[in-house]
Amino acid sequence: MCGIFGYIGAKNNAAKLVLEGLKALEYRGYDSWGVAVVREQRTPPYAKASADGANSKQLGKIVIEKRVGKIGDSFLNSKFSIINSNAAIGHTRWATHGGVTQANAHPHTDCNNTLALVHNGIVENWQPLKTQLMSLGHKFRSETDTEAIAHLVEEEMKKRGFVGSVRDAFKKLAGLNAVAVLSLDGQIAVAKNGSPICLGIGKKEYFIASDAVAILPHTKKVVFLEDGQGALINKGGVKVFDLNTGRPIVKRPTHLKWSVEAVELGRYPHYMLKEIYEQPKVILNIAENYKDQIGGLASLIKESYGTYMVGCGTAAYAALVGSYLFSRIAARHVNFSVGSEFGYLTHFLTPKSLVIALSQSGETIDIIDSVRAAKEKSAKIACLVNNLGSTLYRMSDYKILLGAGPEKCVCATKSYVAKLTILLLLAYAMNDGLVGGTQLVRKASQAAEEILKKKYVEDIKKLAQKISKHDHIYVIGRGLNYPTALEAALKIKEVSYIHAEGFAAGELKHGVIALIEKGTPVLVFAPNDETYEAIISGATEIKSRGGFIIGVSPKSDPVFDVRLPVADVGDASPIVNVVVAQLLAYFLALERKADPDKPRNLAKSVTVR
Ligand code: AGP
Ligand code: GLU
Repeated sequence: MCGIFGYIGAKNNAAKLVLEGLKALEYRGYDSWGVAVVREQRTPPYAKASADGANSKQLGKIVIEKRVGKIGDSFLNSKFSIINSNAAIGHTRWATHGGVTQANAHPHTDCNNTLALVHNGIVENWQPLKTQLMSLGHKFRSETDTEAIAHLVEEEMKKRGFVGSVRDAFKKLAGLNAVAVLSLDGQIAVAKNGSPICLGIGKKEYFIASDAVAILPHTKKVVFLEDGQGALINKGGVKVFDLNTGRPIVKRPTHLKWSVEAVELGRYPHYMLKEIYEQPKVILNIAENYKDQIGGLASLIKESYGTYMVGCGTAAYAALVGSYLFSRIAARHVNFSVGSEFGYLTHFLTPKSLVIALSQSGETIDIIDSVRAAKEKSAKIACLVNNLGSTLYRMSDYKILLGAGPEKCVCATKSYVAKLTILLLLAYAMNDGLVGGTQLVRKASQAAEEILKKKYVEDIKKLAQKISKHDHIYVIGRGLNYPTALEAALKIKEVSYIHAEGFAAGELKHGVIALIEKGTPVLVFAPNDETYEAIISGATEIKSRGGFIIGVSPKSDPVFDVRLPVADVGDASPIVNVVVAQLLAYFLALERKADPDKPRNLAKSVTVR
């Protein structure tokens, strides 16, 4: 995963700008971080390091700072951050090769510190490359795959200039990678194949980032690089080129629509809470503005012979809700698969198949792989994606943006309800019922508002205090709310580290009920639909074995030890019910002193296999 950020421009506080950029990208990984700056020197020490015709008087010294862990706020005002420099690159890491240590933190350098390199991805052939480079005399200082690239560029630089060397070195890498390399003369070369990289075009200043969110505070003009493209960035501007041929490519910048406030925390203590609170608006926006886009996708589904939805984690649960919605509202069978399994299920795809990929980031590797596999079979690709310009966005034939705004908390909240809302309306559109569906969605937005009221939130907080010491929490649902149970359990697990499991309530008697002990908290989704009676009877069986029953329901029932009331919103119940679970997970995390925005071991977008 990892986040890359770089700056070149007229300002002389490049280190600080890069540190701030990395903070915005920390959701991508926070095992360690590092920044390299070029500090200009009056007397150039490296006589022959003049790269690509740069005037040797501009040569500087590369200074690197790296640390294990997240970037502390104090560091933003440290001595390092005020080094005088116009060019810097930085990295925030989610380790794949080599432990979480200072030595393995990026940037990595060559033997003579003539360049600094940051990398997102996995160099699949790093072992043979390293062996070969060591035999040529290169000295390695880390256990990472990344360091091999730095030495490879150094080796190439014996033969040619800076950009040509980065290009040739990159071509020798196997796997999906993106790199940014800082040269002694303060230029940055980037290359991309798989992992995302975009370039921000400001006034006399240029930015590089793994995600445009980090560029947003500086400029809204962004160029998204495609696979097989590279760029050279210096004070003169940005030159994009084809990595294979070296030929220049003219790229038109995209204008970002997100506001800067959308990426700031504002009055909230955590992004998770902020993003939970944004949900009623996200739902309403879709109700008001998505009619045509949804109609377009509904027609595509109707025309297709076989529709398949793919997603990972939370997005997979959204897809699963979708398959229930399509069945009950549109009487249409829509297949579902998690992204990492879809590759084993593509044998039946034809040019008439439609694959709908769901993803917040649009960069999840299992989704990108799924889409590639489907494209090989000439299937049509549609996506529901939050990130404009992301890889998935660019690969898809038909795209619907979630319009949820930047989601910075590692755990997905508002992107989930956005996907559910679109899928609900899509199912209604398939059945010519968009008007009724839209009314229901408005009701759902209102119902979500109710949950976010002070008193309600206080009640959930108290409940979290009561159950936070338990080692296990179970969640049950049926039908439409079976995926809600899975998503609720995922939220609890990932932010509070309590073991939580979601089950189809009907499966209880087939084994799961053996887990219930006296006092075990069980969250029960009991909407006012055809699942109600059966779910209550499941809850009663659990209660008879000592379970502590927390009902999320529009109806009261004696079986509930605690009830969290929700409005009856019919088919929109998964949109509303999940908000309760998100808040419970959030407060459980706080009770257990965990950081809900940056859970351990995770990163927001999983761009490596
Ligand atoms: C959600 O809380 C997770 N952290 C994770 O499951 C996430 O939904 C999954 O990795 C998919 O991400 P995407 O939507 O960006 O593709
Ligand atoms: N493979 C590199 C490392 O472990 C980069 C990791 C990544 O992009 O996730 O440092």
